[in-house]
Amino acid sequence: MRENSAGNSTESSIRQFLQAFPAYADTASLDDLRASEYARLDDQDHVYLDYTGGGLYSTAQLEKHRRLLETHVFGNPHSHNPTSSAMTDVVETARAKVLDYFNAPPDEYAAIFTANASHALKLVGESYPFGPGERYLLAFDNHNSVNGIREFARSKQAAIAYVPLSLPEMRIDDAVLDESLETAEPGRHNLFAFPAQSNFSGVQHPLEWIERAHAKGWDVLLDAAAFVPTNRLDIGRWKPDFVPVSFYKMFGYPTGVGCLIARRDALAKLHRPWFSGGTITVASVQGDKHYFAEGATAFEDGTLDYLNIPAVQIGLEHLESVGRDKVHERCRMLTAWLLDQVTNLRHANGRPLVRVYGPATAEHRGGAVTMNFYDAQDQIIDHLEIEQAAAKQNISLRTGCFCNPGGGEVALQLSKTELIGCFRDSDRAGKSAFTPEDFRLCVDGKSTGAVRISVGLVSNFRDIDRFLNFARGFLA
Ligand SMILES: Cc1ncc(COP(=O)(O)O)c(C=O)c1O
Repeated sequence: MRENSAGNSTESSIRQFLQAFPAYADTASLDDLRASEYARLDDQDHVYLDYTGGGLYSTAQLEKHRRLLETHVFGNPHSHNPTSSAMTDVVETARAKVLDYFNAPPDEYAAIFTANASHALKLVGESYPFGPGERYLLAFDNHNSVNGIREFARSKQAAIAYVPLSLPEMRIDDAVLDESLETAEPGRHNLFAFPAQSNFSGVQHPLEWIERAHAKGWDVLLDAAAFVPTNRLDIGRWKPDFVPVSFYKMFGYPTGVGCLIARRDALAKLHRPWFSGGTITVASVQGDKHYFAEGATAFEDGTLDYLNIPAVQIGLEHLESVGRDKVHERCRMLTAWLLDQVTNLRHANGRPLVRVYGPATAEHRGGAVTMNFYDAQDQIIDHLEIEQAAAKQNISLRTGCFCNPGGGEVALQLSKTELIGCFRDSDRAGKSAFTPEDFRLCVDGKSTGAVRISVGLVSNFRDIDRFLNFARGFLA
């Protein structure tokens, strides 16, 4: 292990880790990368453990992007003047790169540039042909931007149903999934949405579900936002209909650009609720008519964030040159070590320090690990207290429910009756707002959040070891 990745870690903990994971040595090039391209992390003594919140960018990405902008004159794309054509070429090359990166055949899939994954999801939600007799089925541990689609479904009288999670692993039972998939209305529009990786528990749901759902008459929305930063997604193999991603989660820069990768056949089913600049071939005021453009163009409202789009290509090429499988493997080993070590931390009286929500091993899960801390009397330590204490040691972790209320409700065992009661009481009291504090009081002071550690591109052993040392500080 390189010097910089060992840092302050104790010799014995490093030795134990390397004994458990000898293949970690094969990922040493990531330590060099961190030292050269992400030096700010160690120069400023950061322990960055929030990769599911946002990825980190390399210095080279910024330089390449700056050089491109500095050496070209780019105009607003989609015109035929020289500066516009130059920009159109760059945007179209980046679009082709996105499809290529995810192995999505361009004759079968379109890449629609969006502001982020949520915007990609909204495009699907607002345009999917929901109506009476149609269905929206979704996993309990979806992000709120997937949950939010239920409001489009509801407003068009479609049926909405959630597929529940089973404790302790927070996975979906196969038989329960099959039962839910049986509910598709033949000949109608049925949309099934699930995360490839839960941003709450780190669970990776089987991609085989896509084929199963298709066979039962569902279109499939695969939320890949938390999955693709450290896992390969082969769209050509799995054939999901709609895949939203945010690029900043994959490689840190730029923010403000995401993508909806959509099967062209599935796109053809969508009905956009409006038209806008850039989305039509012809629109008429007096004739009161508009005609949508083909494919991705019909979904890209107004002017794209065109100067940032080349940075997407730079970022994807960066991930390819770093080695996606190497990053994946390192994250798997670090996650396995974290899980093993943190679940074995015990107070002097033998009680565990933390409870991890979700799988206790690194099998079929990604590098996001969510937990709560407990004192020696088994009383929960508020997640905000943990966050504040971590900040004092320059550790960036995330707390709350991570916009994943279903995951939170299952993990924290908040019941439906309890939650409905809270919202009913609030409605009765005529409250128009409902704060996190109202929520906490309503559920009798039970925790309404947790602490999430997530690893990514340049995570190293020292990051995890520093977190474990921090956690040991709560032992009594
Ligand atoms: C699984 C998942 N889906 C969707 C999103 C939404 O991404 P964005 O906030 O970039 O739109 C996130 C963000 O954390 C996520 O983790």
